[in-house]
Amino acid sequence: MDTAKLLLNGEEYEFPVVVGTEDEVAVDCTKLRGTTGAISLDPGYGNTGSCASTITFIDGEKGILRYRGYPIEQVAEQASFEEVCYLLIYGHLPTQAELDEFRALVTHHSLIHESLRHFFEGFPPNAHPMMVLSAMVASLSAFYTGTAEEEDVNLNIIRLLAKAKTIAALSYKKSVGQPFIYPRNDLSYTQDFLHMMFAVPTEPYEISPVLDRALNLLLVLHADHEQNCSTSTVRMVGSSQANLFSAISAGISALWGPLHGGANQKVIEMLRMIQADGGDFGKYVNMAKDKDDPFRLMGFGHRVYKNFDPRATILKEAADAVLEELGTDDPQLEIAKNLEQVALEDPFFVDRKLYPNVDFYSGIIYRAMGIPTNMFTVMFALGRLPGWISQWKELTEDPHMRISRPRQVYTGAKERPFVPIEQRKEEAREKPEFVTV
Ligand code: ACO
Repeated sequence: MDTAKLLLNGEEYEFPVVVGTEDEVAVDCTKLRGTTGAISLDPGYGNTGSCASTITFIDGEKGILRYRGYPIEQVAEQASFEEVCYLLIYGHLPTQAELDEFRALVTHHSLIHESLRHFFEGFPPNAHPMMVLSAMVASLSAFYTGTAEEEDVNLNIIRLLAKAKTIAALSYKKSVGQPFIYPRNDLSYTQDFLHMMFAVPTEPYEISPVLDRALNLLLVLHADHEQNCSTSTVRMVGSSQANLFSAISAGISALWGPLHGGANQKVIEMLRMIQADGGDFGKYVNMAKDKDDPFRLMGFGHRVYKNFDPRATILKEAADAVLEELGTDDPQLEIAKNLEQVALEDPFFVDRKLYPNVDFYSGIIYRAMGIPTNMFTVMFALGRLPGWISQWKELTEDPHMRISRPRQVYTGAKERPFVPIEQRKEEAREKPEFVTV
């Protein structure tokens, strides 16, 4: 096996080199501190492999994404979301019989406990649905404790997949003040979600095949993305042996941020702002380039993709097709395309390898489907569930799993004697500001 050499304070150390299936190379630093006394410093973990994983492969330079070896383009075109859940969680494409059994289970567990349903009443009407989803998923552990035994874990995985869609739809109904619509066992995962979101007791609701296909595509494209911020959070929490529901709830919270899954909501807010400002997208490109302006082009840039995000390529085409099928003319799609065009030709974006990411076009499709802006990140979370679950499962089944516990380089004060309060002097320093109401 190849090794890597490190010269530190005149001493030479050797470390094993690990090579993945796709020839990606890593220096195994597990023994770095033990042998050298030093640690690696990598804020934001841009160079750190936190695990070895068999689930998802990304080559950011070439714009490649594969689930369990299958290219995203093929999966997106041919697979149902349930199939992708099965593939990611259990490691292989299901046979028809396996898929039927899985579908039946995920369908039959979609009711939530009536006591849990009452939790919704406690949230204010304008509570963000991401907050509600995270709290509700954490609350599932109050109802389904289980043990770490395989059958309990498998059942909790099914419960989580099944109930998350009900919780997501109910959080929307709560936000618009409409009566809750219960799940239906005769519908597929995506159909049932649309039904719980959009049906009202006063009239029949027909599920549009266009919406069904679009939703399936969106969920499939978001299903996993290896060690991103929310997935790493799920693994971090899971490494303390916290239960599945708690780990996923933490992942939902991590996803909410605008630099991660929350970007899909921010993209639409940005496009709305540009539209309201007369559609001058060039002005916003210039703002994004201005180092003194905190404005960023939302939906642009990615830590890993440095050429193109294959999910964005698929979604750009899908956005055109869905809007045409629905007969929707969305001026924001035009603004988005113009913005992309200008940015892709501008040296600032070219030099920094900034391209549209998955969130750039997803919001346009969600909007055309009638899904409100504050639900976009919830939709992302629903799609990402099988990824989080499969990563959590892989972690907890690893016999060498250790609790995640990074180190730090301490840059604070050296040891100093404690000063009793009566001896402390006023010093000129920045004080925290508190708003007084
Ligand atoms: N608009 C303008 N400039 C940008 C943008 C952007 N969207 N993204 C990065 N840059 C610039 C930075 O200012 C920096 O410039 P500098 O080198 O002159 O200082 C350079 O590009 C590198 O940016 P970093 O922030 O260091 O890149 P990082 O890999 O840490 O961040 C991130 C990636 C968070 C996605 C970033 O590109 C961003 O904030 N994008 C907008 C938010 C977004 O769309 N998030 C969704 C990501 S996809 C997902 O989570 C599903």
